[in-house]
Amino acid sequence: MPQSKPAAKTGLLSEASRAEIDRWVAKYPPDRKQAAVMAALRIAQDQNGGWLSVDLIEAVAQYLEMPPIAVHEVATFYTMYDLKPVGRHKVCVCTNISCLLNGSDRIMSHLQKKLGVKPGETTPGGKFTLKEVECLGACTGAPMMMVDKTYHENLTPEKVDQILDQLE
Ligand code: FES
Repeated sequence: MPQSKPAAKTGLLSEASRAEIDRWVAKYPPDRKQAAVMAALRIAQDQNGGWLSVDLIEAVAQYLEMPPIAVHEVATFYTMYDLKPVGRHKVCVCTNISCLLNGSDRIMSHLQKKLGVKPGETTPGGKFTLKEVECLGACTGAPMMMVDKTYHENLTPEKVDQILDQLE
C-alpha cells in the first residue's frame, strides 16, 4: 500500500519566523541547513508565546528537511525549550554547581514560596513559570537567574523580589 505523505506543517511557521530561520540557515553550507535547528526551535517557540507544540516541532523538522524525531530530540534535551504552555514570564533559576555553591537553593526556595509553585509549574494567573535550568554561562555572577531573556546575577532574596515585583 502506498504511504501517504504527511501533511505540510511549515505553514504553522509565520512569515517572520521563516525569514528569521532563513537568515540562520544562510550562515551554514547549503547542505547543512539542519545546523540551524536550535535557532529555528527558539524562533518557533518565541512565535508561539514561549512554548513548542508537537506540530510546531514537526513544522521546524519539515522546514529544515530533518527527520521529526531528530528535532524532537533537540527540543526535549535542552531546558531552554518548553513543551507545554508557559506563563507570561519565565523565571529560570540556574542550579548548577557554581550557582549551587553560592546559594541557588536559597533563591529557589524563596521563589517557590513567593510564587506558590514548584519548578516546572505556572502560577494560577499565568504570570510566571518557574524553571530550574542548567548552567547559563554566567557562573561568575552566581547565583543567577534568567527572567525571559534578561540575566540577573549575584542574587539575594531581596533582589529577586525587586526584579519580579516590577514585572507586569
Ligand atoms: S553554574 Fe550557574 S550560570 Fe554557570
